[in-house]
Amino acid sequence: MKKIAIIGGGNMGGAIAKGIVKAGLVKASEITVTRRHAASLEEWSSLGYNTSTDNKKAVAGTDIVIAAVKPYQTEGVLKEISGAAEKGACLISVATGVSVAQLEDWFGAGRPVIRVMPNTAAEVGESLTAIVGGSSATAENIKEAQDLFSAIGKAYVVTESQMPAITALASCGIAHALRYIRAAMESGIEMGLTSKMSAEIVSQTVKGAAELILKNGSHPEVEIDKVCTPAGVTITGINEMEHAGFSSAVMKGMMGSYNKIVK
Ligand SMILES: NC(=O)c1ccc[n+]([C@@H]2O[C@H](COP(=O)([O-])OP(=O)(O)OC[C@H]3O[C@@H](n4cnc5c(N)ncnc54)[C@H](OP(=O)(O)O)[C@@H]3O)[C@@H](O)[C@H]2O)c1
Repeated sequence: MKKIAIIGGGNMGGAIAKGIVKAGLVKASEITVTRRHAASLEEWSSLGYNTSTDNKKAVAGTDIVIAAVKPYQTEGVLKEISGAAEKGACLISVATGVSVAQLEDWFGAGRPVIRVMPNTAAEVGESLTAIVGGSSATAENIKEAQDLFSAIGKAYVVTESQMPAITALASCGIAHALRYIRAAMESGIEMGLTSKMSAEIVSQTVKGAAELILKNGSHPEVEIDKVCTPAGVTITGINEMEHAGFSSAVMKGMMGSYNKIVK
């Protein structure tokens, strides 16, 4: 693998740094992690990563630069490193809402840039990451990005026009799904289970439901039908949920997030 600089070793930059080393794609010694505060880099040095508070020095001689600072910090950081990065270095930005056109403008026209959108499950290696290549990104650049983000979950190459929908479903969707988990947990507590037991039971159940769809490739209704005995307890519960507007609430929530992204 190639030399990588990760500008902004926070939650997302850190998850990527750890994920790609754990997957064996690259050694920690081939990655330089930067932050503005030296003290917060000590953890990275102790794990064998190179560290720096100097972004320009960090990107010199690297093949891939991953920008993982906050969206509002991205323009300043890209303009800062643009001259110091190798001409052929590929920039990968994780900044939410920062377009490919903005990346090309700030990093330099004609240079390879890639916009990616991971989600918080990157921390546990279960991200859903959408990847969009800029006009100068080669097939090799995109393949490398896909390999890197496959180390922290599933990674798909998409078009930029699909990004708002994927952001709503996959990034906001994590929080939406967690609200289902929390609500189901609270019912478990009302039934007399401990909070911890409820959390484990509901989370494993949701994981199992998701695996049924991912592994069987079936429609959710097919799997629902297998659980619903005629006149049984499951269909009674499902119909109660629908009378209270469950599907409508989920669709309204998703569309609310989507409409806010595209407006
Ligand atoms: N968290 C997620 O699940 C998630 C999901 C999708 C996309 N994203 C995107 O990922 C990016 C980072 O989010 P995050 O949640 O990881 O934020 P975060 O934990 O705050 O990480 C940002 C890091 O950037 C560092 N930083 C800020 N300015 C810097 C500079 N000039 N040079 C070097 N490092 C600098 C900060 O460290 P110092 O303060 O020490 O400099 C901090 O560690 C955002 O653009 C966000 O939209 C995040």
